[in-house]
Amino acid sequence: MTLRPALESDAPAVWRVHTASVQALCAGWYSEQEITVWIARLVADAYRRAIRAHSMVVAERDGDVVGFGELDLERREVVAVYVLPDATGAGVGSALLAHLEATARSHGLERLTLCASLNAETFYAHRGWRAAAREKHRLTSAVAVDCVRMDKALAA
Ligand SMILES: CC(C)(COP(=O)(O)OP(=O)(O)OC[C@H]1O[C@@H](n2cnc3c(N)ncnc32)[C@H](O)[C@@H]1OP(=O)(O)O)[C@@H](O)C(=O)NCCC(=O)NCCS
Repeated sequence: MTLRPALESDAPAVWRVHTASVQALCAGWYSEQEITVWIARLVADAYRRAIRAHSMVVAERDGDVVGFGELDLERREVVAVYVLPDATGAGVGSALLAHLEATARSHGLERLTLCASLNAETFYAHRGWRAAAREKHRLTSAVAVDCVRMDKALAA
């Protein structure tokens, strides 16, 4: 597995990872309706904008994108860490998260925040993140999903 900065041409692959990951890994924690609305909001073009605006990294295995991580330096926030369902449990998510934290540190940030989906709270907690509060992440005017606001002080 290798990590590299995302290119705009990775947008469709990143979209595929995000969609498959939400569908498989968040199911069980959210209702079918929430997952359907969540996935419908994901569009490949938005990733091109995110790749330009944020710090995005992809994990590749045998030339295929199997995970991605997104960091918004301005908002000091980890926006996303997603791994393909059949690539989980092999350290990809840990590597992506460590990379984003190192990038933030190298830009002089001392603290990061994120809104973890309920299924991912333990993953972050095991990596030094502290749960601060339950929040609602609005998907549409009618649907908002539960998430956990978490933060982490970055070691110098
Ligand atoms: C959360 C997520 C990013 C973790 O990615 P990952 O590549 O599985 O992460 P790692 O392999 O580094 O670590 C997974 C943990 O699960 C454990 N694990 C063991 N076998 C596993 C398996 N078959 N599948 C998943 N996790 C497994 C690992 O040992 C590790 O445990 P630890 O936290 O005690 O160290 C991934 O599950 C995911 O994409 N989830 C859905 C997306 C999501 O909710 N992202 C967060 C949005 S804020």
